[in-house]
Order: sequence, then C-alpha cells, then structure tokens
Amino acid sequence: MQLTLSTAALSEAEGDLLVMPVFEAEIADAGARSQAFLAVDAALQGALSDAAAQENFTAKAEAIFAMHALGRVRSRRVLLVGLGDSSRFEVEGLRMAAGRVAKFAAKTNARSLTFALPDMPIDAAIRAVAEGLLLGGYSFRAYKTGKAAQSPTLTEAHLALPHGLAPTPEMEATLQDAIALAEATNWARDLVNTPSHDMTPTILAERAVDMAREAGLFAEVLDRADIEQRGMGMFLAVAQGSVQAPKLIHLAWKPEGEALNAPALSLVGKAITFDSGGLSLKPSEGMVWMKTDMAGSAAVLGAMKAIARVKPPFPVHAWMGACENMPGGAAYKLGDVLTSHAGKTVEIHNTDAEGRLVLGDILSLAAADKPALLIDLATLTGAIAVALGLFNSGLFTDDDEVASAILEAAGEAGESTWRMPLDARLRGDIDSPVADLKNVGDRYGGSITAALFLKEFVGKTPWAHLDIAGTARSKSERGYLDIGASGTGVRTLVELVRRRAAAMRSVD
Ligand code: BES
Ligand code: MN
Ligand code: ZN
Repeated sequence: MQLTLSTAALSEAEGDLLVMPVFEAEIADAGARSQAFLAVDAALQGALSDAAAQENFTAKAEAIFAMHALGRVRSRRVLLVGLGDSSRFEVEGLRMAAGRVAKFAAKTNARSLTFALPDMPIDAAIRAVAEGLLLGGYSFRAYKTGKAAQSPTLTEAHLALPHGLAPTPEMEATLQDAIALAEATNWARDLVNTPSHDMTPTILAERAVDMAREAGLFAEVLDRADIEQRGMGMFLAVAQGSVQAPKLIHLAWKPEGEALNAPALSLVGKAITFDSGGLSLKPSEGMVWMKTDMAGSAAVLGAMKAIARVKPPFPVHAWMGACENMPGGAAYKLGDVLTSHAGKTVEIHNTDAEGRLVLGDILSLAAADKPALLIDLATLTGAIAVALGLFNSGLFTDDDEVASAILEAAGEAGESTWRMPLDARLRGDIDSPVADLKNVGDRYGGSITAALFLKEFVGKTPWAHLDIAGTARSKSERGYLDIGASGTGVRTLVELVRRRAAAMRSVD
C-alpha cells in the first residue's frame, strides 16, 4: 500500500473512498462539526448528515457509515468512521478506526482512499492513521488457495492534511517512520502466524539473519555444540525432546564511533517455535495455538528491524533461544535436575513450564555483558491472561523508573500494558527440596512465580519482563487486529528506543 500526504480539498479527492473520522458529538450536534465534515456535507447538499442520522449512525468507536457520493464529490463513496466520545479520546482510538477502514476497504474491493486527518497534533494523527491502515490491511493468506489467497485491493491511501496545513519534511519523516514500524510489525506477525513445520528454530534463525543482513544489523547463530559449550543446561534440556536442532540467535545494532561504548539495551525474546508441553503434554485445545509461542522473539526481531532505521546512539542486542518443546524419547523428564548457565540447579516439576528455563539461560547470558537495561518479552504463562484478560500485557520489574519508561512507551505506542507485582513473598513457592529451585510454583500467582523464576537469572542487571501470553494473539477481528498474531511488543520496544535515543541526544 502506497501512502502519501495530500493537501487536496476533500471534495476534490479522487478515488474509491473519502474517509472522515467523526466524534459522537459531531453527529449529535451540528454545532460541534469539524470544518472537514461541514464542507463535505455541504458538497453533498446535507445528504451525508441526513443519511447518517437515518441509519442511526452515532459515531461510536469503530462504527462505520458509508454512502454513495452521488457524484457530488470526486470520490465514489463517503465513509464516516466513529471515534466515540471526544472527552475520552486517545490516539489509539484513531489507530483502531483507521484499521477498521482498511478492513472495510478490503471487503468492498476499494483500491484507493483519501483519509481526512482529524484536527489534533499532526504528527500523532499521521502516525496513527498510517499505522492503523497498514496494520488493518494485514491478513495472513500464505496458506490459502484460490481467491482467498489474493492480496487486498487497497493499494493507495492519501492522508489529507487539515485545511491550510502544508506538508513539511518532519511530517514526511513521521509518515515514513510509521510505515516502517507497521511493516516491521506485519513482518513479525507473519513469523508468528506461520505454522511450526515452516517456522522451525532453523528457519526462524534464517529469517532473523536475512532480516539483519538487509537492515544492516550484526547477526550470529550458534548451534547445539556452542550452547553446550556455554553450559546452558536448561535451554538444552528443553530442546532435547525434539528432532529439530536448537538455535541461539544473536542480533545487534552497533552504532559507529563513541556511541558503541554507550550503555547498551539488551532484548530477549521467548522463541519456542512449538510448545506441546513436552511430557507434561498439553490437551489439544491448549496446544492448537502453540505455534505462537515464539511471539516474544518475533516482537524483538520486528523491533530490531525498525531500530536499524532509528539508529540509536547506543548498542541494542537481541538474544533468542529457539527450540521446540516436544515429548520425544530423549525429552527431559519430571524430577530431572538441570544445571543452568548461571550455575543454579533446577528441579523439573512440569515440562510445560519450559519458557522460563530457556529464558533463564538466555537472560543470564545476556546479563553477562552488563547492559544498562535488559528486557524480555515472552508468551510465558496462561495465568497472565487469567489475571489481566486478553487486552493488557503484564509488566514485571523491581525498578520503578524502568516501569514508568516502559509504561509510557507502551501508552504512546497504543499497546496496553499493566504493571504486576514482583512480590518476593511468593519466592518460596519455587524452592525445591532437591535443587536450588523448581520450575513451577503454586496455582495462585502463576505469572508472578514465573517472573520470580526469571529474576533468579538476571543478577544485578536492571531488568523488566513483559508477559504477552494474553496479547500476542487476537481471538477476533478488531480495529487493526485480525484473528491471529497481533505483533504486540514491536511498537512499545521501538518507542522506548526512540525515547532513550532522544534523551541521550539532548544530553550531548
Ligand atoms: N507457552 C505457555 C504459555 C501460554 C499459554 C502462552 C496460553 C499462550 C497461551 C507456557 O509455556 C506454559 O505452558 N505455561 C504453563 C505454566 C504452568 C505449567 C506452570 C501454563 O501457563 O499453563
Ligand atoms: Mn509450556
Ligand atoms: Zn511455552
């Protein structure tokens, strides 16, 4: 999809759809209408407001009203999309509305549209609409055949600046950043949606290396022998029940000159390409989506793709331990005691608590380089979805400043995130009678004991953990989300890097 900024008068815009986002008040009260709405309604001789009222369109969030333009404006159809109550409006509402528009365009075979940017800070509007259209236009069709395999028809979208505003290089840069971010997110979604037989640890590593080469990032992939040599006993144990070879993937953005020595950011992503549960086998209902158990690594990889464009003045590392969790003859067993990369021993009480084992080893490896901040993203526990529902990711950290920075970035990016307590009183739940730790706690606070387990492997490095088990996949079509991978995490990480880059540049 080609996106451009446009200064054309709305009534002169050519194409299939003329899209106008509207608040509830603009429908209820003619006096509250924007200049854009008034102008287009006038061109339609009042037919737009009349027809919308007749159809009981109230502009609640994401509601859509479409009518033929009757030849009174250049576009074939005029579309109103609801933004809901203006007093409770957040930029994310505009992103979701734009996503809905892209889906409407796909269903009605529209090829081109003009989207009237609402009257609000222009950079935020450009970002939200561009991201919403591109994310909403995504659907995963790689395994469809025939008509269903065809790409959506929408190939051209013009973002119309409010009357009197001329495009600036900053606006153009904002647009290009938003396009890159949405494309990186859609790329991450593809990784997650691809079934596990076509997204093995080896293939995931290949995708990562290909992306890194294209984006200009450092990349290395280590094999089983290297993982053994590094003493990553937990990672190896999880991998040993599968015929697929594990891969340790390391990508890095390395800035030039002095910046190479600046405090680094390290990102870690859970990369279980299929989680059967191992010998603690999952029931089919729980297993059917477990190709998505590498969504944390997909988020990290998508973010790295975008970060290569941001070019922050500090190094950013990405680490992933890719493997399958399978119940093969060589599988690790309940009661086994593993020795971790950090040296701590772990008694296995459930082979389905595999993510924390692999992550524990990867976190201690990443922490050895002493980054300024270490963040992991993981589809770690079903318990996080029980606690928070499917709309919020869970954030765990002992560091209040890190928590604020991540929550602010997530808020700006439109990825709802809620802080969870890393409550040390639950630490006793993962004591083992035999080893230093066991890999599961009590049923209560399951996402917290999982986070406390990870904490054992980061030492003194400032660290945050995002449990995205509830948010990595959408169960329904909603706003810019399709059923399947959401790509969650990419936008938060990139926003966080942008903010850290801006803060460091302002100090120089
Ligand atoms: N990958 C799962 C967590 C998960 C569940 C992700 C649902 C997405 C949707 C993880 O490896 C797992 O199986 N966790 C167990 C932990 C339990 C055995 C302590 C869980 O949540 O049941
Ligand atoms: Mn599991
Ligand atoms: Zn898992």
